[in-house]
Amino acid sequence: MNAGGGQPHLVLIGLTGTGKSTVGRLCAERLGRPFVDCDHEIERVAGRSVRAIFEELGEDSFRDYEHHVLIEVLERHEPQVVATGGGVVLRDDNRARLRADDVRVVWLQADPSLLLDRVRSTTHRPLLDDDPASTLQTMWATREPLYREVADAIVSVDNRSVADVADAVLR
Ligand code: S3P
Repeated sequence: MNAGGGQPHLVLIGLTGTGKSTVGRLCAERLGRPFVDCDHEIERVAGRSVRAIFEELGEDSFRDYEHHVLIEVLERHEPQVVATGGGVVLRDDNRARLRADDVRVVWLQADPSLLLDRVRSTTHRPLLDDDPASTLQTMWATREPLYREVADAIVSVDNRSVADVADAVLR
């Protein structure tokens, strides 16, 4: 249990474009809990956009911010609903934190080819600037075992509405 000894935090993981933020916001509303979008929290702490962090400071700095934000959010007394960035599972220490008992991790799983349509029109994901189709396939291959390692539950988002996915997450 978390610091308050109450319900575990609910943490959504999954590839970019799976709807972690939208689903997370709805779950938080239904549970009456605070919602945290880690990318927004990183932007607030760093005082610049995710894209600017990648371009001006590099990916390693972004991953450091991501780690510190994850740890800080999961230290909060009140159970949170947390949308992570797709790469949060890359670091061993993040995965160790996500495997702890005070966190319920739900993996929003999607076929990477279906994600392409969702991310095509967005510009805030620097890792997808070049050849998003093959980048998503590579991300899937690298990260799939890492998501699986920390997930307490897996919810498919393919061809499902946000409300349906939120129902499945909260089941
Ligand atoms: C990243 C995913 C992004 C963001 C950053 C890196 C990744 O978040 O954290 O651009 O490595 O997959 P979303 O998963 O919300 O797009």
